[in-house]
Amino acid sequence: MNVRHLYVHLPFCAHRCGYCDFVTLLGRRDGHGAYVEALLAELELERERLGADLETVFLGGGTPTFTEPAELARLLRTLPAAEELTVEANPETITPALAELLRRSGVTRVSLGAQTFRAELLEVLERQAGPDAVRRAFYHLRDAGFDNISLDLLYGIPGQSAADLDRDLAEALALGPEHLSCYELEAKPGTRFTFAHGDELRRQAEAMEGYFEQVVETLVGAGYRWYETSSFCRPGRQARHNLGYWLGEDYLGIGIGAVSTVDGLRWRNRPSLGGYLAALSGGRRPPREEEPLEPEVVARERLMLGLRLDEPVQLSRVEGVVDGTALARLERLGLAERRGDGLVLTRRGRFLGGGVTAELMIESPAKSTI
Ligand SMILES: C[S@@+](CC[C@H](N)C(=O)[O-])C[C@H]1O[C@@H](n2cnc3c(N)ncnc32)[C@H](O)[C@@H]1O
Ligand code: SF4
Repeated sequence: MNVRHLYVHLPFCAHRCGYCDFVTLLGRRDGHGAYVEALLAELELERERLGADLETVFLGGGTPTFTEPAELARLLRTLPAAEELTVEANPETITPALAELLRRSGVTRVSLGAQTFRAELLEVLERQAGPDAVRRAFYHLRDAGFDNISLDLLYGIPGQSAADLDRDLAEALALGPEHLSCYELEAKPGTRFTFAHGDELRRQAEAMEGYFEQVVETLVGAGYRWYETSSFCRPGRQARHNLGYWLGEDYLGIGIGAVSTVDGLRWRNRPSLGGYLAALSGGRRPPREEEPLEPEVVARERLMLGLRLDEPVQLSRVEGVVDGTALARLERLGLAERRGDGLVLTRRGRFLGGGVTAELMIESPAKSTI
């Protein structure tokens, strides 16, 4: 097998932010070693699926940089080499020593969760870092030699105004990152955040379209390429790991809750830590749900993910799922266009995003459930 992308999930966080529904675990510092051991055991069991040369490795979380430094270093030392090695980081965890450790361990790219630079909005989000800590983390990474740093920003935060967002974008641009991901804050059902801020989140939802345009106009105006719905980069600085996913390439995911898609099969490890550690310490694969992917599901995902990009999806890769009549209508409306033997959304189409994609797709009951 020749999978070229590896995702590694590190679930530990110092604190659970109210809006987050990722697979996370609080604290457990004395359990980080056992978890890293299990990750490496899982990697060994799946190793034959990986190609000889990996394009990307991505350590996501959770808060990978909250992992005990010695364990994080051991993990980084043992993982296979890759052209791009990204680590997600929370600002308050980045000390000069940790930035050095990451650099020395071969990390090539850091994705820093800034979210906002407004102190009162960071508090609403229950973030541990204040605005100064975000800036300090960025400079520690630069001082350690990182020339590929991404910042995550959120918009639609309860209490945030368009002027606040303008200031956030200006603060982010002042740091000069190579990459920015700007996400609309999703109200995840069942989180205490959605319960506490329901009315304000509904009000923000109505303003989202305007915020999205504000983000795109500001960042494109500052010379960044809007290469994916929520992602902006300096030339050649796309997130290659995520790009692989948007292009429908296979990837292996290890760790609790991690998803893999390899050769028409998708599986997701169960999120429970106990089951994960028990299986791997006994030399077995962790408990997981598996789903064989029908070719039609694969083509639908390719279309859905591919149209997030500013480069065309090849029509031959999405055969059977594009509604020709809808395409002709969307072309007339200036929302989609055929370029060579590919299909791409126009700038206006990209602002409408998911709605245009849904219209382009023929209806079918088949869809992935994982
Ligand atoms: C799972 S977090 C991991 C990174 C790191 N722990 C942090 O919090 O910065 C990755 C990114 O997902 C985004 N995110 C998390 N919850 C979200 C939500 N409810 N809506 C939109 N984006 C969210 C944030 O921008 C965050 O930086
Ligand atoms: S630190 Fe990141 S992963 Fe952890 S709870 Fe907060 S948003 Fe989620």
